Amino acid sequence: MRNDKILYEDDVLNLPDLNERLAKYRKSKELQARSHQVIPGGSHTYAKGDDQYPELAPGFIARGLGCHAWDVDGNEYIEYGMGLRAVTLGHAYAPVNEAAYRQMQLGANYTRPAPIELECAEELLGLIKGADMAKFAKDGSTVTTAAIRLARAYTGRNMLALCADHPFFSYNDWFIATTPVKGGIPASTTDMTAYFRYNNIESVKAVFNKYPGQIACLILEPVKNDDPVDNFLGEVKRLCHENGALLIFDEMITGFRLDLGGGQRYYGVTPDLSTFGKGLANAFAVSALVGKREIMELGGIYHKHERVFLLSTTHGAETPSLAAALETMRIYQREDVIGHLKRQGEKLKKGLDQVIAAQGLQDYVKVLGKPCNLVYATRDANKKDSQLFRTLFMQEIIERGVLGPSLVVSYSHSDTDIDKTIEAFSGALPVYRQALEDGVEKYLYGRPVKSVYRKFN
Ligand SMILES: Cc1ncc(COP(=O)(O)O)c(C=O)c1O
Repeated sequence: MRNDKILYEDDVLNLPDLNERLAKYRKSKELQARSHQVIPGGSHTYAKGDDQYPELAPGFIARGLGCHAWDVDGNEYIEYGMGLRAVTLGHAYAPVNEAAYRQMQLGANYTRPAPIELECAEELLGLIKGADMAKFAKDGSTVTTAAIRLARAYTGRNMLALCADHPFFSYNDWFIATTPVKGGIPASTTDMTAYFRYNNIESVKAVFNKYPGQIACLILEPVKNDDPVDNFLGEVKRLCHENGALLIFDEMITGFRLDLGGGQRYYGVTPDLSTFGKGLANAFAVSALVGKREIMELGGIYHKHERVFLLSTTHGAETPSLAAALETMRIYQREDVIGHLKRQGEKLKKGLDQVIAAQGLQDYVKVLGKPCNLVYATRDANKKDSQLFRTLFMQEIIERGVLGPSLVVSYSHSDTDIDKTIEAFSGALPVYRQALEDGVEKYLYGRPVKSVYRKFN
C-alpha cells in the first residue's frame, strides 16, 4: 500500500466525471455560493459547514422524516448526523410536533412564566434523580457556561479544569480559548484553565496538586468512546469534593441517548451540576442546567448570599419547545427508546465490523463509541488518522445514499435502514481499499475536510 500524499488543499480536482457527479447537487451548489455571501461560514453551526463535507455532498437539506432526509436537489439519504445528535426520535416526529403545535396556538412567550415551565422542570427532575432544581435555555453552550459561573460563585474560586479528551463544551470564551481558534478572545482567558485526561486519575490528582484551593470545578462528559475504568467517575467525584471543587457532567449527548437518567445514572455517579440539551426535545431548542439545590439556589431570589445572575434569556422558556420537551420526555418513559438506540447501534456496529473485516480494512476503518452514539475513524496507509480518507469515505457512502458524518442512530432507524447502511458501507469500502493502494487522489473529488478548530482557513 502506498503513502497517502496531500496533493491539494483547496482546489477541486478536475477528475474526468466531476461535472457529471456534481450535477446531482446543482441546487445545493447554487445555495452554497449564495449563502457564503450573507452568512459567515455559510451555515449557523461550524459542524454543518462545507469544510466538514466532501465536495460531492448535499449542501442543503430540504426536509427530514424519521431517519430519512432529502436534499434540495431531491436526493434521499438515510441520516446518521441527526441534527448534530439532537434528533433522538426521528425527524418531524408527529407526537412531538403536535404537542409543539398545540402549545403554539396558545402563544409562544408571555410576560410572566407559563405553567409549562414548571411542568417541564418537574418532568426533567423526575428523570435526573440526583438533581433538585433545573433552569432552561436554548442551547448547550449557554447552560455549560452557566454551570461554570455557578461553580465559580459557589466555591469562590476562578480556575476550571477541563477534560482534554472531550472535544466541545461551549462556543463561549472559556472553552473556545482552549482551541486553536482564539480570534477575538483575550489571551488571559486560558490563564484560569487546567486540563486532565479521561480515565487518568493521576492527571486529576496532578491538577489539584498544582492548583491547591484554586479549582472551582471539573467538567467532562460522563463518557465519550470508551467506558470509564477503575471507577474513574466516582474517583473524580471523590477528589473534587476532597479538594472543595464541584463536579459538572456535560450530558448534552449522553443525556437521553445512553440512559433515561443520563450518564450519571448509567454509571451511578451523581455530579453536583449537569447540563442537558440536544435530545431533550427531539431537536426543538431546549437545554437545561440541573443540579443540587444548595448550589442552584444561588441563582434564586430568596437567599441571603451574594446573587448569581443565572440564565436569564428572553427565549429560555419559549413554550412550544417546552411542550416538545415534555412530550419527548414522556415518550422516552412510555416507549423503550433507549433500548432501541442501543439495539440498532449494536446491530449497525456488528454489521459494519463484518463488512470492514471482509475487505481486510479493520486497521483502517474503525467504528467507535457507545452504540447510541457511534462514530467512525478513517486511517491512511500508515494507519494514521486521515481527513483525506474521511472525506473519501463520506463521499462514497453519500453516493450510496447514507449521510453519515457520524453513525448516530435514532428511534426511527429500522432494521431495513440499518441493513441498507451496511450495504452502502460494503459498496464504499472497496473504493477505500483501492485508494489505499493507488492513492486517495485518484478517487477523491475535491479538497479534504478540515478540523473546525484551525487558526487559519
Ligand atoms: C458535549 C457537548 N457539550 C456542549 C455542546 C454545545 O451545545 P450547543 O451546540 O447546543 O451550544 C455540544 C454541542 O455539540 C456538545 O456536544
